[in-house]
Amino acid sequence: MKVVMANDHGAVGLKKRLCAYLTSKGISVVNLGTDDESAVDYPDMAEKACAEYLTGGYDFGILLCGTGIGMSIAANKIDGIRAALPQNAFAARMAKEHNNADFLVFGGRIDYVDSPEMMIDAFIGAEFAGGRHLRRIEKTTNAETGFKHIVMWSFKSSLTEDEKKSAFGKIKTELEALNGRIPGLLSLKVRSPLPASSTGDILLESILTDENALAIYQTHPDHLKAADFIRSVTENRVCADFFL
Ligand code: RB5
Repeated sequence: MKVVMANDHGAVGLKKRLCAYLTSKGISVVNLGTDDESAVDYPDMAEKACAEYLTGGYDFGILLCGTGIGMSIAANKIDGIRAALPQNAFAARMAKEHNNADFLVFGGRIDYVDSPEMMIDAFIGAEFAGGRHLRRIEKTTNAETGFKHIVMWSFKSSLTEDEKKSAFGKIKTELEALNGRIPGLLSLKVRSPLPASSTGDILLESILTDENALAIYQTHPDHLKAADFIRSVTENRVCADFFL
């Protein structure tokens, strides 16, 4: 199991305690928070941890500030992130079962009835229930705006023009079928590769105008199915896994 953590100066002690606790349970921890009491801004810390989490490979994340409130507000403004601020072990279990939260958030200056360690255990021990809870999560995610994930590619040079055409048609059909079911799938465009050197605004403009840019919602399982097919007919993803 792998966890990413970040904290501000309001929770250095608790962060260290939880790092040690997780490590003692054999959980691998990536600590991106501050390790001393000098003041830092919690939105910067939340952003760092969420960006790292979104690169993939993490089971969940933990954010900490003085109360946990600032960190949870900041994290929940980042597309693709659901952060829960549990009051006790029951709420921590629900954060998994009902909310399938990406992050648990704690306050270093809060006296909890159940310790953060107990809440972490309750979260880890729970399973997402899916069903109506998935529908509710999707409705919540719908409130997010913008591209979630952009993948660019060039077709394999061994493909004939006709094969490229037919592969593009198949990709388009598959992804259009996902449209509406995947919050955040805003558009699908395919054409030539982007210049690899493009950065910032130029890159963004190219993404929005270039037909070789594909926006898909990164965490949806159906994305993986589509991505497999795309991989089988393309090479050199020019700008893979690019987050806006
Ligand atoms: C920092 O003093 C404090 O405001 C911060 O840690 C957090 O509690 C914000 O919600």
